[in-house]
Amino acid sequence: MGTRGGIDVLVSEVGPRDGLQSIQRAMPTAAKHRWIAALAAAGLREIEVGSFVSPRLLPQMADCDEVVREARKIEGLTVLALAPNVKGAERGIAAGVHKLNFPVSASRAHSMKNIRMTPEEAIEQVRAARQLARPHGISIEVGISTAFGCSIEGAVSEDWVMQMAAALVEAGAESVGLSDTAGTANPAQVRRMFTRLRREIGERAGAAHFHNTRGQGLANVVAALDAGVTTFDASQGGLGGCPYAPGATGNIVTEDLVFLLESTGLRTGIDLDRLIAAREILADALPGEPLYGHVPAAGLPKGFAYAAGRPR
Ligand code: COA
Ligand code: ZN
Repeated sequence: MGTRGGIDVLVSEVGPRDGLQSIQRAMPTAAKHRWIAALAAAGLREIEVGSFVSPRLLPQMADCDEVVREARKIEGLTVLALAPNVKGAERGIAAGVHKLNFPVSASRAHSMKNIRMTPEEAIEQVRAARQLARPHGISIEVGISTAFGCSIEGAVSEDWVMQMAAALVEAGAESVGLSDTAGTANPAQVRRMFTRLRREIGERAGAAHFHNTRGQGLANVVAALDAGVTTFDASQGGLGGCPYAPGATGNIVTEDLVFLLESTGLRTGIDLDRLIAAREILADALPGEPLYGHVPAAGLPKGFAYAAGRPR
């Protein structure tokens, strides 16, 4: 596995975006700043800090400009934000993001519900945003939502997902990953789809984004590692979850993912004690909100060894 600045796998924290977007009440901006700083201090190198979406739909994300500007002050941190359209890209560029993440759904029904565009229209938004972002050196990453199945449409055609990935690369996306938005993916499907993705778009194959809705999250990570994936999204405390699916949890838990990777011998650059300590900021800012995670509950095993010694 190749090295990127002394790490083998990039853990991209999405809690401030994917986690907080699914919690009704807004986290105060100052708490977001503290949380992001603590995550970066634990060794996270990339954080999706929010989304440039309609503030009427998602008031929790209305402060994204400010959150990006503050996060930009943290040395060595790649600041990512979600944008669904050109307007979002303009806001992100003005605030100074390093990268924009465009959600493009494979499912037509999900696409219409989420961003009120067809998949084809969303791809055209990526093309237009790429033109705007290029002079600023800002890259556009895409996660294909509902790539493994949709809670509205059910099964999603794998051939269609691959066609979309190729079309997104043609539109200028720097990387295209696959997202298990509905939390239905299984390891066999994950291995097959990421292997196909790499065959289809080579080095542009991007992040794996798994939700732990049905408890398959970390098994899917292992399958994706087998297929050569080196970037994983995760959220601290598995924050979030779908309000319309009782019992559903959010993304895979960052703390558990880091434990899996480090104990497997894959360097993440993340210090687990410092990462687990950052949960207190969440608990204070969002009292009563459940935080998930096996490793934070059980603690690190006696004599736990990081892949390359404890990160500093
Ligand atoms: N940021 C802020 N405001 C935006 C915006 C953006 N990125 N995009 C559109 N708007 C505003 C427009 O300016 C317009 O405002 P006005 O009514 O004051 O003139 C209004 O929103 C409607 O614009 P329109 O282009 O018609 O958008 P829409 O109503 O079709 O909604 C999206 C499209 C994409 C903006 C909206 O569906 C959205 O924000 N979706 C994101 C959902 C999400 O975050 N899902 C989870 C992440 S995957
Ligand atoms: Zn998600």
